[in-house]
Amino acid sequence: MKSDQDSGLNLVVKNLGVSYIRKNSNTSVIENLSFDVNPGEVVAICGLSGIGKSTLVRTIAGLVRPSQGEVLIDSQVINGPIESLGFVTQDYSRSLFPWLTVEKNIALPFKGKDISASERKSRVQAAIEEVGLTESARLFPWQLSGGMQQRVAIARALVMKPKFLILDEPFASVDVYVRLDLEDLVSNLVHSHGTTTLLVTHDVDEAIYMADRVLVLSGSPAQLSLDLSVNLKRPRVQMQTRSDATFLTLRDQLHASIRS
Ligand SMILES: Nc1ncnc2c1ncn2[C@@H]1O[C@H](COP(=O)(O)OP(=O)(O)OP(=O)(O)O)[C@@H](O)[C@H]1O
Ligand SMILES: [Mg+2]
Repeated sequence: MKSDQDSGLNLVVKNLGVSYIRKNSNTSVIENLSFDVNPGEVVAICGLSGIGKSTLVRTIAGLVRPSQGEVLIDSQVINGPIESLGFVTQDYSRSLFPWLTVEKNIALPFKGKDISASERKSRVQAAIEEVGLTESARLFPWQLSGGMQQRVAIARALVMKPKFLILDEPFASVDVYVRLDLEDLVSNLVHSHGTTTLLVTHDVDEAIYMADRVLVLSGSPAQLSLDLSVNLKRPRVQMQTRSDATFLTLRDQLHASIRS
């Protein structure tokens, strides 16, 4: 159930441009990119490898400074890292500290925050339960499978109850069945909390299955080549939804746009 307290943030990306300095010259990776995301919306971002997807979400998160345009979250221009953000990065396994247990890794975002020890404990406990890791709370990341480590990264991103969540290729490197479970897990969590979510994925089927809208980046510098609404009813059910005629039409449109 959604509650007002949980409702997600509104995102506006306006004429965004991002450049990196390479061999002493500026290389433009993203140019003139604009889109909005409504509170509670789940938006997937697709595009070929190296197109600029991670650059885009890092810029939205305030980790990379734009060379043009701006990012606004609930009308505030982003000038640096955002407090109200949960972020699962592409290299999730490197983001876990091997010398800390699952529960201590998940508790990390509380560091330096004025939140009582009992509140921390109950929130960490709740996050561990939400991702199904109760039995593994005292284990270390290196004692877990890849899929379990991804659950730890997801729990850590959710423990502060973020109103805005960015997932950059969060389910890479697990087998297909674990991946389907993680897709459902994250979909259920973000919908129950009304979290505004950006999901970067290479997997077109995953993008359609999870998102309300799919954006495609293409070209160099990258621009928005498609903004596709996913009109599939929820709750979505893996094999059933994936064989829906609408799903198959959307998949064709997306493949064509990514390749063009
Ligand atoms: N910190 C950086 N400094 C210089 N160039 C960078 C930096 N980060 C990314 N790039 C370059 O920007 C381009 C886009 O990279 P980015 O990581 O955003 O792509 P991506 O779409 O996320 O790719 P992938 O799907 O492989 O993760 C690439 O050419 C990459 O080499
Ligand atoms: Mg990337």
